[in-house]
Amino acid sequence: MKTANANHAPREDRVVSHVQAHNLKQKRILLIVGGGIAAYKSLDLVRRLRECGAGVSVVMTAAAKQFVTPLSFASLTQSPVYDELFSATTEQEISHIHLSRAADLLVVAPATANLIARAATGLCDDLATTVLLATDKRTLYAPSMNLRMWAHPATQENIDRLKDYGALFVGPDTGDMACGEYGPGRMSEPAQIVSAIEAALMHQTQLPLPQKFQSALSCDTTRALAGKHVVVTSGPTHEAIDPVRYIANRSSGKQGHAIARAAVAAGARVTLISGPVALPDPEGCQTIHVLSARDMHAAAIAALPADIFIGVAAVADWRVAPVDQKIKKNGASSAPALTLIENPDILATIASSPQRPALVVGFAAETQNLLSAARDKLIKKGCDMIVANDVGVTSDVFGGETNDVHIITSAGVESWDKMTKSALADRLIGLIANQCDAMGVN
Ligand code: PMT
Repeated sequence: MKTANANHAPREDRVVSHVQAHNLKQKRILLIVGGGIAAYKSLDLVRRLRECGAGVSVVMTAAAKQFVTPLSFASLTQSPVYDELFSATTEQEISHIHLSRAADLLVVAPATANLIARAATGLCDDLATTVLLATDKRTLYAPSMNLRMWAHPATQENIDRLKDYGALFVGPDTGDMACGEYGPGRMSEPAQIVSAIEAALMHQTQLPLPQKFQSALSCDTTRALAGKHVVVTSGPTHEAIDPVRYIANRSSGKQGHAIARAAVAAGARVTLISGPVALPDPEGCQTIHVLSARDMHAAAIAALPADIFIGVAAVADWRVAPVDQKIKKNGASSAPALTLIENPDILATIASSPQRPALVVGFAAETQNLLSAARDKLIKKGCDMIVANDVGVTSDVFGGETNDVHIITSAGVESWDKMTKSALADRLIGLIANQCDAMGVN
């Protein structure tokens, strides 16, 4: 019998792991474990992937738990094992949609005849099959079953169908089976699966949806906000240091302006309050140009009443105490000190206004603890939704063309894949329109 212990692994298998270390480093694998006798081999698979530097999350079917315990996988991955579709805690922290999208590759091992059949027919009656249906990433199946189940035309047709959808397969091997028969159906050895994972990751892992299904994804938001007044803030603010200098930030206005355009396309009357940007005014909006946070604050209050407020602007939290004349060097030995005064919080003001819009949406630009800091802002500023984006040193959200965000509401977190700022704007406006419908905002 094979063992899951690293020290007992065959010598050449260990060599394979080391050779592969480079290619799997920092890759994220979502392993779905089906209910078959080969489930014990998946423990060894996890160990090897971890040795190669890959991050592994594990989803287990109910049947898989009859063969191996979740605790074994949790110990090897150092993270929770997911097994319930309707787990309140899990949905708060990580939705099944996020689970299916956060990985670079999904691996089903062992892929039983039952799991393959359910995936091929689009059934989603547990977490494993829901994740398989919701993913936009490639899936590698390592089949494991009795030889007659493997040879059955139903199984072979299911496999053809999954291949048509872009799925990849490794194995099965031919050999002695747990049931005493001999033939094809044994799950491939972990080292072979690791090689197949590495090969799969060398290609584009984002699953291109076949052309004939593309239209099912397009969301038509035309007129979804007809009759609504939407106020959007966008761009940076400039805070004067003296009559010639100012403090600013890197916001280009691309995200806020895209949201204003998407709201116009959805049929809304849009007031765009823009800080100083190098972008043309979007067509169909009333654009109000402002310079400082206090100007933006006043313009936002004046724009009420509104149905929806979306604060995308990077507003300066502080301004400099007024200085009437240009600050001169005058041969002084030390640099002049600037006194900072806190600016009003526009989002919090609008959210607590007697004329509060039905839906108040803020953004959170963070460089650390993104989700917890954004959740704090949701509560402190009193808004209904926060769109959190990471603006750390490696991110090009400020000024760039793309953004990847987490949507935070009191109900939980939804994480979106990286996309262009205009695609994000369309999707956000679609979400806001749905939210308005659900809240009965007329
Ligand atoms: O303009 P781009 O180059 O396209 O970049 C987009 C963006 C990074 C500016 C945008 O995606 C974004 O994150 N906007 C929010 C920037 C910000 O100021 O975040 P914050 O975490 O400091 O503020 C939280 C929220 O409070 C924001 O909605 C902000 O508009 C609002 N705020 C902040 C301070 C203040 N005095 N008044 C406010 O209303």
